[in-house]
Amino acid sequence: MLRTADLSVEKINQLLMEANEFSKGKIAKATKEIYVSNLFFEDSTRTKTSFDVAERKLGLKVVPFDINHSSVNKGESLYDTVKTLKSLGISLAVIRHYKEKFYDELSEIDMSIINGGDGTGNHPSQNMLDLMTIQQEFGKFDGLKVGIVGDVKHSRVANSNAEVLRKLGAKVYFSGPEKWFDEGTIINGTYQSIDDLVKEVDVLMLLRIQHERHDEKMRISLENYHKKFGITKEREKMMKDHAIIMHPAPVNRGVEIDGDLVEGNRSRIFKQMENGVFARMAILKNALEKRGFEFE
Ligand code: CP
Repeated sequence: MLRTADLSVEKINQLLMEANEFSKGKIAKATKEIYVSNLFFEDSTRTKTSFDVAERKLGLKVVPFDINHSSVNKGESLYDTVKTLKSLGISLAVIRHYKEKFYDELSEIDMSIINGGDGTGNHPSQNMLDLMTIQQEFGKFDGLKVGIVGDVKHSRVANSNAEVLRKLGAKVYFSGPEKWFDEGTIINGTYQSIDDLVKEVDVLMLLRIQHERHDEKMRISLENYHKKFGITKEREKMMKDHAIIMHPAPVNRGVEIDGDLVEGNRSRIFKQMENGVFARMAILKNALEKRGFEFE
């Protein structure tokens, strides 16, 4: 899986259904030995660990791969690294890479590639767990109003979610510092001021400020951000009774959201993480079944 937006609505629904079944205790185990590896060229806690847990729950053989102690440090290319793993018997690789669409250069290699996040491009497994969390809450996407707030320009989470949520019938709105919304950033939604947005949305999806992708011109003081665009206790009180708050995490507590609200009644942030394991089980199983592997 490289981009969720490339999947049909039917396939998205099928993956969501299986992810939900896994969350309710369904068990699936590979009928033979399948070797998989997780290659993270950018840091990760949630995505890497939950793929690892999901792989083990499916009975897959997880081969550790530490970029920092690999021949990547000797200049070996992504292509040669992945082709080497294929030669060693790895059937599937989950890859997070700083290069947008890194997967294009791997298309000739006959193995399953799952995109664990490509630069500022897409984050399909985060998208699936976000959809799962919204569906559990509302039972539908059609007609929901979803607000995505923050560093949209640098967010692969925003890209993936906005495109797919619109495809599923939700209305997508954005808010945040205008310098993070240059021409072309908003193609799948409408900009709205934060104080109007919080009153109207069913789902408030906050984004992490991606300091590591900012040059001097993009920087904004954290205090200023919290005051102008953060979910303060005052803004949280303005939300509809049933509205929920999501964030892909890691959260900058006290910046994108008041630290106390992270564990508040509206927050689904830890639920998202929990769902991440089940969504990733469905993604992995589907990718391997497409290659003829079987599960019982
Ligand atoms: N949400 C997310 O992708 O978190 P990690 O960077 O920790 O994987």
